[in-house]
Amino acid sequence: MDMNATEKPMLILKDIHKFYGKNEVIKGVSPEVRRGELVTFVGPSGCGKTTLLRLIGGFTDISSGDIILDGQRINDLPPNLRDTRICFQNYALFPHMTVAENVGYGLKINKWPKDRINARVRELLEMVELEAFGERMIDKLSGGQQQRVAFARALSLEPKALLLDEPLSNLDANLRLVMREEIRKLQERLHITTVFVTHDQFEAMAISDRLVVMKDGLIEQVGTPIEIYERPANEFIAAFVGYVNFMDGRIASIDEKTRTVVVDTQYGKFEINLEQEDLRNGDGVLMVVRPESVSLSLDCGVNRQNVLCGTLKTYMYAGSLAKCTVMVGDKKMIIDQYNPRDAVHFKHAEKVEVEIPRSVHLLKKKK
Ligand SMILES: Nc1ncnc2c1ncn2[C@@H]1O[C@H](COP(=O)(O)OP(=O)(O)OP(=O)(O)O)[C@@H](O)[C@H]1O
Ligand SMILES: [Mg+2]
Repeated sequence: MDMNATEKPMLILKDIHKFYGKNEVIKGVSPEVRRGELVTFVGPSGCGKTTLLRLIGGFTDISSGDIILDGQRINDLPPNLRDTRICFQNYALFPHMTVAENVGYGLKINKWPKDRINARVRELLEMVELEAFGERMIDKLSGGQQQRVAFARALSLEPKALLLDEPLSNLDANLRLVMREEIRKLQERLHITTVFVTHDQFEAMAISDRLVVMKDGLIEQVGTPIEIYERPANEFIAAFVGYVNFMDGRIASIDEKTRTVVVDTQYGKFEINLEQEDLRNGDGVLMVVRPESVSLSLDCGVNRQNVLCGTLKTYMYAGSLAKCTVMVGDKKMIIDQYNPRDAVHFKHAEKVEVEIPRSVHLLKKKK
């Protein structure tokens, strides 16, 4: 998507505020979506994701700000004139119509001639692999098939922006995975600018070019899934995207030449790669230690850099990984051990070694 970075974004939101009565639920946000990009609004329940999506689609009025789609200010346009299509969580399909009638509904409303509607509907059904289901009634479809019909219907008029609000939440876990891959594949193939909403951080990371992480009506961070996961801007984001062990510390020294900082904690000193420019000696930091980044081993007692001795409290073997909890002093650490070949030995171990990687992200504490 980098080649699009210099191009003007397809969708620009400028300082959007939304009040319900006296309650401000969107507090001044300005996210942008590039052409052909899939951007996901993600955040805890009630943070304003659906509201923001509805504001873009025109189903709710903004209190102030501007919405610009492909260079045109669309604030005052009704939903049907906005060139956006929204796909709601419950699909909102017409139960008394067939699959083909549902998919062709928008085309009929727009007074397309019958033969063109038929051709376009056929094309859309092929795209979502439902070409054999055109005459089927909606209530005779599985959840995943209904999801595809809703998707095809939303795409029928080739909107400039596709808005998807928790489109997978009615599906069971396995189908969710399949459908999110399908949506992503289609979205990339059609190069359609898409705003996706979910409260599921894993789904968000898996499907998106970039994430907009929200909290209480504000944007906390915008970035690629890798940026958000590996370099979260604050504690809230670090804890929201995946599990995390936080360790309190202070910068004891900085070596610019080897790009290493030493962090002093109550558990000992750690050498960490220097990746930020804003750190100074004496700064308070929070180490963001991901469970899968820690290595566990059995040879406890050897004194090595970045290695701590701990007590193994639980070891839950689940085939591809083992979920462990280890007490290091009074600190409970959650550790994921992938490909746990030594499970038999760990199951009976008491003392273990915990190695903190040099790649740990450091959050500078506010003074
Ligand atoms: N029509 C409404 N009238 C008054 N308050 C509303 C209305 N719609 C939403 N809100 C409030 O606005 C806030 C944001 O709601 P929104 O539905 O956007 O959250 P969300 O991020 O989509 O949450 P979820 O993950 O639960 O779907 C909430 O506090 C909600 O109670
Ligand atoms: Mg919602």
